[in-house]
Parts: sequence; structure tokens; C-alpha cells
Amino acid sequence: MDWERASSVEGERTMRQDAKRSAPAVARNREPILAVLRDVLPATGTFLEIASGTGEHCVFFAQHLPQLRFLPSDLGDEQLASIEAWRRHARLDHVLPPLRIDVTQEDWFRDAAGAFAQDDELGRGLVDVVFCANMIHIAPPAALTGLVRGAARHLRPGGLLITYGPYKMGGRHTAPSNEEFERWLHSLDPSYGVRDLEELVARGAEVGLHHERTFPMPANNFTIVFRRTSAASLEPTSPRAPTRGD
Ligand SMILES: C[S@@+](CC[C@H](N)C(=O)[O-])C[C@H]1O[C@@H](n2cnc3c(N)ncnc32)[C@H](O)[C@@H]1O
Repeated sequence: MDWERASSVEGERTMRQDAKRSAPAVARNREPILAVLRDVLPATGTFLEIASGTGEHCVFFAQHLPQLRFLPSDLGDEQLASIEAWRRHARLDHVLPPLRIDVTQEDWFRDAAGAFAQDDELGRGLVDVVFCANMIHIAPPAALTGLVRGAARHLRPGGLLITYGPYKMGGRHTAPSNEEFERWLHSLDPSYGVRDLEELVARGAEVGLHHERTFPMPANNFTIVFRRTSAASLEPTSPRAPTRGD
């Protein structure tokens, strides 16, 4: 078992007395991820985090990158409560309250963005960075597609999609522990799984997201950076379904 990964999931089940949850893996991976972010992020702009989980990453990055505006999100009630609790605890003006976003919904940012003033770029549904850690493998394949398509739709030209987590390369696991981890994922839900980096790159290319860099990370993870190089042509493929909590 890869305990780096398992604790990321297990830790979220460890309720504290307040709503704040803690994932032990975050304490181990947040510094290496921050180093990559410092390398690739724009000087200013809005950083939308998908699948924020406990909310610890977002608050930590915001503490170290005060020039950016942070917008966390998740689909689960407990996650949203934890994110908000960490946000209030940190007292950071440049971290906005979390949004409920399910990336398997075709227009996942459209309604959420409607809550912002039209003169704000968020009101026009635009952000500079979409960041997502440790979601793609622990969600159905539709989450990968939805993340990429939604990022293409809502990133400003030149904006970045950044993902973090384990990937297969050339159809093969990059470490035996990842193979064991995937068996565990399948026991949770057969639709979960460590995805191929090539698949992620291909989905990005379809919608104008150019794969720019791959950073090997500790514990057999990777940070993948895409840049929006062209306007995405993304008509909704199906009528919009209600999101949880609608
Ligand atoms: C393993 S946790 C990772 C949390 C955090 N990013 C981290 O690295 O610690 C996976 C997260 O993905 C979220 N998630 C799963 N499916 C999702 C979806 N379709 N849209 C948005 N978030 C999703 C879950 O609610 C959970 O918070």
C-alpha cells in the first residue's frame, strides 16, 4: 500500500472537533508542489482549485503566494465545510469562500461564476489557473474529461491547468506501489484507476490545452502543466444535469 496516497484519502475521514479535516499527505506533498507552483504560476491572477478536499493545500499555497487570488472548490458537503473552516482559521482575504463544483457536469463553472460581479473576470467565468491534486484517479473517467474540458472553457488564453497525482506512462505503472494502489482503488470502485498521462495529454490537445511540462514528484507522483494556447470550441454535449445541492 502506498501510504502517501492512502493517507490522503483516509485522513479526510478523520474528523476534528470542528469542521476542519486533515489529510496527512498534504503536509508531505505541499512543499514540493509549492516549489513547482512558484516555478510556473503567473505573477497575479485567480487560482481555481478543483477537488480541494480538506482545504489545506489551498490555504497553504495562499499563505505563500499572496499575490494570487484563491478560489477553492469541491463537490462534497463535508469537504466544503472543512475548506471553509480552514479558510476562516487562516484569515486570508485573498482566499474566497469555496464553490460547489462537480467536474463531471458539462458546464461546471458556469453557475458558480454567476455569483460573481460581471465586472470581475470571475463573473465572466474566467480564471488564470486551474489546479487539481489527487482527484483524477479517485473518480470515474468522466472526471478527467470534465476537468480538462472545463479548464479549457474557463481558462484565459495563456492560462494554466495543473494536475498533481500518480499516472501511468506508456500504459505502465511508474512504480510497483502505484500498481498496488490501483488495486486498492478498484476495490473502492471499479471505475477508479491510475490514468495514463498520454490520455490526459490527448484530452487536453483536443480542446486547445498544450502539455507544457511534466515534473516528477516525491512518492511516484507527477505534476503536469498545460497551457491554454487556443480558444476552445466546446459546445455542451448534453443538457445540463442538476449538481448535488442544487
Ligand atoms: C483524494 S481527495 C484529494 C483532495 C485534495 N486535492 C488533496 O490532494 O488532498 C479527492 C477529492 O476529489 C473530490 N472529487 C471527487 N470527484 C469529484 C468531481 N467529480 N468533481 C470535483 N471534485 C471531486 C472529492 O470530493 C475529494 O475531495
